[in-house]
Amino acid sequence: MVQSIDNHLTFTLNGKTVRPQEISPTLTLLEFLRQQGHIGTKEGCGDGDCGACTVAMIARGSDGQPHYQAVNSCLIPMGAVAGREIITVEGVSNGSLHPVQSAMVETGGSQCGYCTPGFVMSLFAAYYNRKLDDGCVEGNLCRCTGYLAIRRAAQQLIEAESEPDHFSEALDQAALSLSEFSYRGNQQQFYRPTQLAEVFELLQQYPDATFVAGATDLGLEMSHHRQTYPVLISLEAVTELHLLEVMPQFVEIGAAVPLSHIEENLRGIFPSLDEMLFWFAARQVRNRATMGGNIGTASPIGDLPPVLLALDAEVQLVSGLGSRWLPLVNFFKGYRQTDLQPGELIASVKISRSLTPTATRRLSQSYKIGKRGTDDISIVAAAFTIDLDVNHQIVHARLAYGGVAATPARAMGIEERLVGQPWTLETVRQLKPALQEAFTPLTDLRGSASYRKRLVANLFEKFFVEMSDTTSIQEMRG
Ligand SMILES: Cc1cc2nc3c(=O)[nH]c(=O)nc-3n(C[C@H](O)[C@H](O)[C@H](O)COP(=O)(O)OP(=O)(O)OC[C@H]3O[C@@H](n4cnc5c(N)ncnc54)[C@H](O)[C@@H]3O)c2cc1C
Ligand code: FES
Ligand code: FES
Repeated sequence: MVQSIDNHLTFTLNGKTVRPQEISPTLTLLEFLRQQGHIGTKEGCGDGDCGACTVAMIARGSDGQPHYQAVNSCLIPMGAVAGREIITVEGVSNGSLHPVQSAMVETGGSQCGYCTPGFVMSLFAAYYNRKLDDGCVEGNLCRCTGYLAIRRAAQQLIEAESEPDHFSEALDQAALSLSEFSYRGNQQQFYRPTQLAEVFELLQQYPDATFVAGATDLGLEMSHHRQTYPVLISLEAVTELHLLEVMPQFVEIGAAVPLSHIEENLRGIFPSLDEMLFWFAARQVRNRATMGGNIGTASPIGDLPPVLLALDAEVQLVSGLGSRWLPLVNFFKGYRQTDLQPGELIASVKISRSLTPTATRRLSQSYKIGKRGTDDISIVAAAFTIDLDVNHQIVHARLAYGGVAATPARAMGIEERLVGQPWTLETVRQLKPALQEAFTPLTDLRGSASYRKRLVANLFEKFFVEMSDTTSIQEMRG
């Protein structure tokens, strides 16, 4: 594979084979579509936030079957489109309006129409997935119609009997696995190996290559900052990185498993993970984003690291020389610095399901504070795990935060002081002043340092109160 490299890539666009040549593999799918005259797909923000550029892509769903998935074309590099089937708004009607378009017309779901192709594509994917809940358009912004009419369109589609059509038939014939692929265009190389051994082989030849998984972080660099990469190695087709193992003692999650699969397949196992995934970006992003990418960016405001730190997760790091397990708490070394050595990548994350031996009960939850409910960057994210013994004494405590230090971090001094204490409001309140001073966060546009400090302490008290009344979280969401 390393020896031969193509100068064209092939994919299916609205049922027709397309073979672009000499394009940059970091050109985004949105730019490509618009350059080719498929201008129904709109550009709004260009960074994954507005959904105007939504297209549907056939991909393996969390049940292992092919599905239409709504994705943001502004974040998808053309290299990642090879071998895929893409449907744009131009492809949904077949002479007459598609039921999704009819529903939008009948409920008055469009005024200026700029956001409409994106909504149509999100509804289209949800229509064939039978997931026409409110979440199916959470990643689409509309500035003039308002959401009521669009929600009515979704409701109308739920109530309508859906007949099999050529789109559902296309799913039956869709290829499930992505094949190995390599491409050179515009002096950039893009490799998509399917085995870890091939990744290591490529790394020997290109030690400075950049990994890309879902491209929801890197895609932003390509889209907004026109960043190019001489050699990209896509991890999305590497079989070993797609493991999702649920055992009685632990859960292991492959680094390249999309978050939407984790959300659906692990629901109910770790409440704090369920909660954080609920607030994580929007469906278009979760369909592509991976856990390996969220840890790999080492962002101090990544939302999953606090959850994983509070659950004492371990990461498996692999290279051509072998593999090693590292507690996640030792993985983050400094601002955007990790313990990854040259030639190493994240293979999986393991989370234990066992309580501390003397514990009889575990309390665990996570919180995300942002300016908006969903699809926003955290001001502070927090995750807590408290194990209690039969006497309601704390035998194990983990308080982990994002947005308060150069890396995701635990309040270790406070954790130590909690152990041996009774789990009472008095204990929590006594430690709040110290917890408030546990970190020295920065002031930025999203929040002041003092606001963040108060969140650090107050979120822990909120956790105590909510754990005394576990139904309140459901009520808050409702
Ligand atoms: C609109 C929008 C909303 C977002 N909302 C959130 C949010 O709510 N919370 C949040 O935390 N993040 C959010 N993000 C950021 C992003 O979606 C996540 O960080 C995501 O998990 C990245 O995964 P990816 O597979 O797309 O990573 P990529 O973009 O593919 O890669 C990110 C980085 O990780 C490296 N990498 C990827 N996989 C590996 C691996 N296996 N081993 C080593 N390095 C690796 C890459 O080289 C790159 O440096 C958002 C992004 C967008 C565009
Ligand atoms: S243009 Fe806004 S999400 Fe792509
Ligand atoms: S119809 Fe104008 S922004 Fe939605």
